[in-house]
Amino acid sequence: MELFFRGTDTSALLAEWATAEIILNPHVQSTLQSELDLVVGPTRGVHHDDLPHLKYLQSIIKETLRVHPPGPLLSWARLCTQDTELRSGLLVPKGSMAMVNMWAIMRDPHMWDLPERFEPKRFLTEISGRVMDVKGSDTRVAPFGAGRRVCPGREVAMESVSLWVGEMFRRFEWGECVDHPIELGEVMRLSSEMRTPLRAVPMVRV
Ligand code: HEM
Repeated sequence: MELFFRGTDTSALLAEWATAEIILNPHVQSTLQSELDLVVGPTRGVHHDDLPHLKYLQSIIKETLRVHPPGPLLSWARLCTQDTELRSGLLVPKGSMAMVNMWAIMRDPHMWDLPERFEPKRFLTEISGRVMDVKGSDTRVAPFGAGRRVCPGREVAMESVSLWVGEMFRRFEWGECVDHPIELGEVMRLSSEMRTPLRAVPMVRV
């Protein structure tokens, strides 16, 4: 139950947000399709073994997690187990319930250049030989949480959403639906959803 409850809408919403952002950013769609044509080609589907070579696709999924995290407040609440003084001088007394606003951290203008802009390239740049990790080792961008309660489904989520989005854009050119323009407003239900669910038009490529 826990796997279905935590693992289905989160992954589906991530794919929906990513598709919306790719359609709204035509240069992202064309760069992604060039990468897919080069790595996968027209005669077969995207495979697990392709993913390490689809670096731009991975960067799109990471940037989508930064801008539209399906779980923006992580696990809602943590219990503070000891009196803790923050760097700002604020005291969080033992027994308080604390929430991590990961949405705000991942859009903090002190940490991110033009945080509102959807720019997958930020996840292509290597720092000390590594690209920025989104799976919990870097708390600037931890959409799956971090520490002992980090999301145990993060590898499954990253892999399945990459395969879905990769295959959707390998096979189709996606465009906006004239009668239903894409709106990026959010609504918080079980996860953070698109307030206006995405409608898009596929045109066959291969
Ligand atoms: C894009 C997809 C997903 C996102 C954004 C996501 C995000 C999260 C977040 C933020 C947490 C709380 C972590 C914390 O509080 O530190 C969490 C917990 C959890 N996730 Fe995911 N998740 C995703 C997919 C999945 C999948 C595919 C599964 C299972 C197959 C899964 C299973 C779980 C479980 C069982 C927990 C609770 C862990 C615990 O409390 O110890 N999640 N997830």
